[in-house]
Amino acid sequence: MADQLERGGELHRPAVAEAAAWLRERLPEEPRLILDVGSGPGVGTCVLAEAFPGAEVVAVDGADGLLERATARAERLGLGDRVRVHRAELPGGLDAFGGVDLIWTSRFVHHVGDQRAALAALGGVLRPGGLLAVGEGGLPVRFLPSHPGVGRPGLQARLDAAGDEWFGEMRAELPGAVDAVDDWPALLTAAGLAPAGSRSFLIDHPAPLGEVGRAYLHAHLTRIRGNDGDRLAPEDRAALDALLAPDGILTRPDAFYLTASTVHTALTPPAS
Ligand SMILES: C[S@@+](CC[C@H](N)C(=O)[O-])C[C@H]1O[C@@H](n2cnc3c(N)ncnc32)[C@H](O)[C@@H]1O
Repeated sequence: MADQLERGGELHRPAVAEAAAWLRERLPEEPRLILDVGSGPGVGTCVLAEAFPGAEVVAVDGADGLLERATARAERLGLGDRVRVHRAELPGGLDAFGGVDLIWTSRFVHHVGDQRAALAALGGVLRPGGLLAVGEGGLPVRFLPSHPGVGRPGLQARLDAAGDEWFGEMRAELPGAVDAVDDWPALLTAAGLAPAGSRSFLIDHPAPLGEVGRAYLHAHLTRIRGNDGDRLAPEDRAALDALLAPDGILTRPDAFYLTASTVHTALTPPAS
């Protein structure tokens, strides 16, 4: 998954930069300590370090290999003096931190069985008045015209439906799974934080798509074929196979990458 996470990070990098500019407006002062929780290979971590030049930014993740990539990326970009990494089996492993100004956590919280408890654990290391930014949800990815010329029209919507089923089963099997509505402002409130606004950011890489986008989509469709093949009708499986063939998503001139990511923010209560 490391290569795929890095490709996804590259595709979403401009949107993270936009989100960071939006977060800057919500922070009362320049942040000095930022955590990127569930950082993966650190693409977002480095965007944050660039957006907040006065801050130390810590990539927090459970996977050593991904943290090594985060360190290598930060060094490559000349950010090595302000980016460090911390291995943690989340939502634990944050005891080393306190007084954090900003926590960014993108596409991580849904990996934890009890999402409310995870948000509360993150809120617990923020300073009074600190900001938590949770990137979860948005819009499904679109990558071909709605009539893609393979299979029946509506293929992408049917892939989304199969993916949603897979996602629900994945969440139900997590240790300590709690079945809660993904109402992020409500979950943030239940975690003792004060919601401070949500916003969605467009990720728009039009056709003709570059190599990173094509490689991402090929791996993405391969994963759908593996995870959801049994949920799809035979004609949709055949359409997927056609898209995975050499004259499919890797070379089609009409392939693009279009989606949106939502970021929900909340503040910790100020010190009394
Ligand atoms: C989907 S990736 C998101 C990466 C990046 N934040 C992004 O938005 O592209 C989820 C990350 O969370 C990490 N992760 C998932 N569950 C974890 C846990 N319980 N403890 C620590 N890290 C975890 C994975 O290693 C992975 O890097």
